Amino acid sequence: MARIVVLTGAGISAESGLGTFRDENGLWSQYDLEEVATPQGFRRNPSLVHDFYNARRRNCAEARPNAAHTALARLEAALPGQTLIVTQNVDDLHHRAGSRNVIQMHGALMRARCGACNRVWPAPMHMAPDDPCPACRRAATRPDVVWFGEIPYHMDRIAAELADCRVFAAIGTSGQVWPAAGLVMEARAAGAHCTEINTTQTDVSGDFDAHLLGLASRVVPDWVAWALARADPGAAGG
Ligand code: APR
Repeated sequence: MARIVVLTGAGISAESGLGTFRDENGLWSQYDLEEVATPQGFRRNPSLVHDFYNARRRNCAEARPNAAHTALARLEAALPGQTLIVTQNVDDLHHRAGSRNVIQMHGALMRARCGACNRVWPAPMHMAPDDPCPACRRAATRPDVVWFGEIPYHMDRIAAELADCRVFAAIGTSGQVWPAAGLVMEARAAGAHCTEINTTQTDVSGDFDAHLLGLASRVVPDWVAWALARADPGAAGG
């Protein structure tokens, strides 16, 4: 069970060049989320939805993990089995930075799923509505991304991990979307010390014990050093 649970949102990938959703010029100011991030929107216009995710998949492939992603990978390497990342992000930057114990609660841009038989496979860079499912051959393929109104993945495992955690951090998330926004309260109930890392205050800032205001690439490495020292005070002394 992880002693340290880190929730990440779009803000951790902002400095890697991937857009956030609710910042100025964020994705939801450019697209109507009802059209590109709901099952109803997909039924109405699957081409528009595939085009939206094809563009995000291309951007993701061109992006690189930043110092915040690599600092979290360093934390897991130093404290194997004690560190878990729960990410709302569908990019693969945590994995490419070296993190292995990662739960993608909103799914993965680089994974495709069949809406008919639920088979999942690595997504091609370009997906289209008439792509046949490799298992059942029906033209029902979709990005394996959790849309509004759908149930996030692995919620039972996330709850079990939070019940045991001692240190919690939320990095680069506006705390606007549930159930992710409520995870800090589950960590608090377990007695965890909770830190919010963001460039601004959020609607859930009051739920945290500490706030580190600043760019994730600058602040997360410092927070990781604090978490390592707290986990093994002797090590910090050299
Ligand atoms: N460093 C730290 N925080 C940052 C940075 C940065 N460089 N840049 C932006 N932020 C912060 C913003 O202040 C904001 O609070 O990241 C947060 C991004 O918020 P959102 O755009 O709402 O993204 P997120 O919280 O991940 O959204 C949650 O909503 O649309 C759905 O499924 C989608 O997973 C997403 C969910």
